[in-house]
Amino acid sequence: MNAPSPELLEKLAQLLGPKGYTADRDAIAPWLTDWRGRFHGESVALLSPANVDEVAAVMRLAGEYGAPLVPQGGNSSMVGGATPPADGSALILSLRRMNRVRSISPADGVVVAEAGVILANLHDAVAEQGMRFPLTLGGKGSATVGGLVSTNAGGTQVLRFGTMRALTLGVEAILPDGARFDGLNPLKKDNRGYDIRHLLVGAEGTLGVITAASLRLVPAILDRAVGWIGVDGPHQALKLLRLIEGRAGDAIEGFEIVPADSLALVLRHIPGTRAPLGGDHPWHVLVELDRSDPAAQAPAAQLEGLLAAALNEGLCRDATIATSEAQAEAFWKLRDSISEAERAQGPALQHDISVPVAAMPDFMLSAAETIRSAYPGVSVSAYGHLGDGNVHFHVRAPENPPADWQKTAGAAISPHVHDLVVAAGGSISAEHGIGQMKLAENARLADPARLMALGAIKAALDPKHLLNPGKLVPLATDRTAP
Ligand code: LAC
Ligand code: ZN
Repeated sequence: MNAPSPELLEKLAQLLGPKGYTADRDAIAPWLTDWRGRFHGESVALLSPANVDEVAAVMRLAGEYGAPLVPQGGNSSMVGGATPPADGSALILSLRRMNRVRSISPADGVVVAEAGVILANLHDAVAEQGMRFPLTLGGKGSATVGGLVSTNAGGTQVLRFGTMRALTLGVEAILPDGARFDGLNPLKKDNRGYDIRHLLVGAEGTLGVITAASLRLVPAILDRAVGWIGVDGPHQALKLLRLIEGRAGDAIEGFEIVPADSLALVLRHIPGTRAPLGGDHPWHVLVELDRSDPAAQAPAAQLEGLLAAALNEGLCRDATIATSEAQAEAFWKLRDSISEAERAQGPALQHDISVPVAAMPDFMLSAAETIRSAYPGVSVSAYGHLGDGNVHFHVRAPENPPADWQKTAGAAISPHVHDLVVAAGGSISAEHGIGQMKLAENARLADPARLMALGAIKAALDPKHLLNPGKLVPLATDRTAP
């Protein structure tokens, strides 16, 4: 593959100026590796346009010279979705400088935020207006609006408010030929054919570059109750969820399952953490109930009643409710730090999978058993979004693994896990996307009609594969050099 032409680089440098263009190795280095350190790429320049016109101009120039672009937000992809290819052919198109919240309308419940706005900053900006953007996840301090929309991110509030797709009311994007799609107006009804917004949500930057999004807001929380519950296992946890849903309905904001070994990793590796419950429990559940309406029952009282009922019905072993906001945050931190703790522990194979919710408890136990007995010495932890039918099914290396364990063991273990998922009618990517990590597995396992449509849509909008090449869509074999 060709290196980017010096003439193109010169034009980009002129277009973007010193703030928007760098070829400095040290400045580029942090953006060449994904945060898990699994994928390493190369790129000779980092492009950081300041506004949508500059993004369009960059894309037109890149198209003219046939230079691939890798759009990048917070670089917190779990699947290498924002890491440039290793051959140095692509330029990184960072949206981080476009970090303005353009408008907040509490009356309409809409915020318009540019692609580079960091999720935690978005939370703060709308909170100042008495509103809330409900989606949240462990990487909120780095993940950006553009990346969240482009990956249809999930997280821990999906149970109540859905994924980014449900919260994205409109997008502004530049398509591969430099044309601007101006779809920010949050129309409730718009029936003019193919929905470009939904095509771009979850497209992983392969069909266009999202420059801004209109996002749904909900009223700020008045108060919340966060509980930590010891349970026997996933079956009991799901029954507990159904009990809480049945009685608390819409108030249930989060319901996450955490096995004992994931909690132990967090306690070992994340400073300042402590177990909420005394005694050992094989599994744990974190639950949050909220209210925005002062006339509704207070969440703490509601949760107390529910947990008493659950204890009575044998649906939990022990439980505690956070008595302060600081403690509530501490409970959530235990949950949100699992990935980080696992990274500190050593090599692991991550599978972000979904099966129908009712089938999940059986799947979690039987798949874990199958993998443990097929690969002696490995540890399996399945944790996360049980109520969404989505868990992170992670297989950790045995003690003192060979340096290439991830590559060698992964070659057998991950396809094995994915085969079990497919047999259970599930998806091998519930929320993290395909990126480069799951490209081959998706090509192996996806329904041929799905792959055909994926390839045809890509070919129609980006026939030269210049946008985020090597992610989501297999490179066309008949690709012609520009
Ligand atoms: C989580 C990330 C890994 O749920 O999706 O922790
Ligand atoms: Zn998750």
